[in-house]
Amino acid sequence: MESVAFTPGDKAARYRELLPQLQALFEDEDDLVANLANAAAAIKACVPATSWVGFYIMKQYQLVLGPFQGNVACVRIALDRGVCGAAATQRRTIVVPDVSKFPGHIACDGGTMSEIVVPIKRDGQVVAVLDLDSYELAAFDEVDVQGLAPVAELLGKLAW
Ligand code: SME
Repeated sequence: MESVAFTPGDKAARYRELLPQLQALFEDEDDLVANLANAAAAIKACVPATSWVGFYIMKQYQLVLGPFQGNVACVRIALDRGVCGAAATQRRTIVVPDVSKFPGHIACDGGTMSEIVVPIKRDGQVVAVLDLDSYELAAFDEVDVQGLAPVAELLGKLAW
């Protein structure tokens, strides 16, 4: 079993290390839930500012909680709700430096201060979103956007 390990400090360097580790984890396994569960754990280890990381999977025009690391969370999110719904419908990554300033933010955990949500696309369709939350204000920035883009692309190739 591979373990994940990351260079302390440099966030961009850590993201560069994440991709091959995810590829290695997915290499011999095609079970979606198993791969998403390991992806959540690897991303949590890669991004120490993260209080919660996980997936909401598109099911019948709703986002339904998938594998995650962190506290228990909201189970279903309508597409017109929250940062997750906005990222899914706008089909783009949304960075929220201060969730109290995002109209409609869903506070699954009252301690969450900032958030990034990345859509995962398969054949151009949004199949899920990847959500990272932090107890720190402005924990996520352009480095996270750039670092998570290839991760989302890789995740889009899983067995959705
Ligand atoms: N804050 C998200 C909901 C999911 S939880 O944070 C895990 C949102 O506004 O969509």
